[in-house]
This record gives sequence, structure tokens and C-alpha cells, in this order.
Amino acid sequence: MEVNHTTKQWKIDTPEDRRLHEAADWLKDGKLVAFPTETVYGLGADARNDQAVKNIFKAKGRPADNPLIVHVGDVEAVSELVTEVPEHAKKLMETFWPGPLTIILPVGNQLASHVTAGLDTVGIRIPDHEVGRALLKAAKIPVAAPSANRSGRPSPTLAEHVITDLNGRIDGVVDGGITGVGVESTVIDCSMETPMILRPGGVTREQIEDVIGPVDVTGKLAASEQPRSPGMKYKHYAPDTAVWLVREAGNMAVIANQLKGQGKKVGYLVSLERAHEMNLEQPFILGSRENIAEITQQLYQRLREIDEHDYDVVLAESFSKEGIGEALMNRLERAASEIK
Ligand code: TXA
Ligand code: MG
Repeated sequence: MEVNHTTKQWKIDTPEDRRLHEAADWLKDGKLVAFPTETVYGLGADARNDQAVKNIFKAKGRPADNPLIVHVGDVEAVSELVTEVPEHAKKLMETFWPGPLTIILPVGNQLASHVTAGLDTVGIRIPDHEVGRALLKAAKIPVAAPSANRSGRPSPTLAEHVITDLNGRIDGVVDGGITGVGVESTVIDCSMETPMILRPGGVTREQIEDVIGPVDVTGKLAASEQPRSPGMKYKHYAPDTAVWLVREAGNMAVIANQLKGQGKKVGYLVSLERAHEMNLEQPFILGSRENIAEITQQLYQRLREIDEHDYDVVLAESFSKEGIGEALMNRLERAASEIK
């Protein structure tokens, strides 16, 4: 892959658009093509092509030990990629696919070794996005795709975020507008007897347990332990600006005043309601507190905007961890340099 070549953009609104076949051909040719999913944009490459997969790591600046999720258009494609599909995994696929759930299974021998970063498992999902899925169906190949951001940046929820991070480093972007969920898929390891959620995301723990009963959830690991999901050890999603997550609503004004007393420039990442209650000037507004899905959808875009300003500290509001709120708060906690 040469860096500094042109990145082609296809603006595509419907799954019938014939230009999707060009993008699909590019994937089959080993090129890097970013595409929309219902969670965030992914940076796709043929998951069987070693060089193409290596190029993903190079374009993103991604550590080689962090495995990629494989995206497919149909559930039939899964059996070729894995050695077995346990009963609980089948139920999850039937219930939540297409959708924001990545299922980890024992890997077969069809995929480029860099996809799994040397693990004996692979994460797979069918995205629930008309245009993204039409691309996968047209390509008819397994597509490895991490989020289409530079490593360490927030995941892209718009094609322009992809361009900001990767212009000239990838071959193309299918622009399908803003993504729906706004944070990444839930990752569940189904390669063991009791499945374990490795990353909270678009499908909630309650929804999963309704279908297959109790699951484990990764907690904090002892220093000596290897994380089950290599991605968990990297600090993700953090803006360069210090973000302080404020647990108690009442404390935000007090902390702001202390900081201002020290001559610091203070910004706010808050709901519409909080902005009104505190009468804030030019806050970063996530949306209405009554609509946690909207707040989640807007989060990464607001995090990107924070670094375009020169605040010393941005104070962020806390939200309920119920439902999609768990994924939202997981990303906010990881973006925060301090929790107050
Ligand atoms: O919503 C999403 O999942 C998006 C869209 C594009 O599909 N993709 C995404 O990929 O977020 P990425 O690469 O940014 O995050 C994948 C996460 C990483 O934390 C990685 O370590 C973990 O999934 N992962 C992938 N394969 C794994 C495996 N075999 N075992 C454990 N963890 C795995
Ligand atoms: Mg990512």
C-alpha cells in the first residue's frame, strides 16, 4: 500500500446503487475500502488476503496483536470460517443478526493469520446496515474490518471522520451517512461453555441473557492475567483534551469553579437539560437525557469536536447504565482521564 494515494469516495444512499459493485470489486482485489455499519464505519479488506489485512494494520497504526472482526453478508458464510458453532451461538445469531453483536468462535483455516492476531478464535458479525450489508453481499467474501479510525481516535460515525483520519492511506470510502448506534458492537466470546461479554455495545447484556441465560462479563484483570480481548488493554477513544467524568450532577458547578479559579478554560460535554439547568455557554451537547440512544449516537462526534477547541478540561455528565447506557458509559469512562 502506498501512503498518499487518492481515496475514492462513493456517496451511496440505497442498497441498489450499482456503484456498490465497484467497491465490492475493489475489496476482492485486495484494496482497503471503508464502509458504513449500524454501529460505526469499518475499514474493510478481504479477510483471506494476508497482504490486504496487513495493510489495515498499517493504515490505522494498529498494534499487530489486536485481532479484527470479520463481517459477512449471510449466516451461511459463517460455517466456512469456524470449526464449530455451539447451540448458544446459533441462538444469538438467529436473534440478533443482522445486528450489533460480534460472536467469537473457534477459527478454521480460511482466514489470513493476521486477522486473528495469532489467537485460535475469530469474531464474526453481520452488520444491520442496508448499504454496508449490500456491499458484503456483492463482494461475497469475508471482510475483516476494525473501526475505520486511526488507532487511539474515536470510532467514525460519519464518512468525513474516516476521511479526516485516513485520507490518502486507504483506497476508498462508501459514504452511507451517519451510523445509527454510534458505538461499537457488543463482543461475546462463545468459544467457551459459559459465554462471556468482552465488550459492551449495541446489544445489551439483558437482551442476551433473555435468549441464552446467564453469561459472564469481563471484569478488571489482575496484572498478571492476559486480557481475553486484546483490544481491552489499549486506551481507546480518548481525546487529547482532559475529560473529567463527573458522577454527581451537583458537583459539576463546584468543580468548574475550582478549575476556573486556577485560570483553566473549562468546557462541558452534557445533555440538553444539563446545559439549560446550568445555563452553560457553548457546551458540547449530546442530546436529550430522555433519549440515551441519541446521546450514544452523538458521543464520538462530540469527542472529536472537543479537540478542535482549546479547553484545558472538559467536564462530562454521567448517564444511567441501563440498556444501551452501559455501552455509552463504558466509552465515556474510557475517554475520561479522571472520574470525579
Ligand atoms: O461495531 C463494531 O464492532 C465495529 C464495526 C466496524 O463492525 N468494529 C470494531 O472493530 O469495533 P475494532 O477492531 O475496532 O474492535 C474489535 C474488538 C477489539 O477490542 C478486539 O480486540 C476484539 O474486538 N476482538 C476481535 N477478535 C477477537 C477475538 N478473536 N478474541 C477476543 N477479542 C477479539
Ligand atoms: Mg476500534
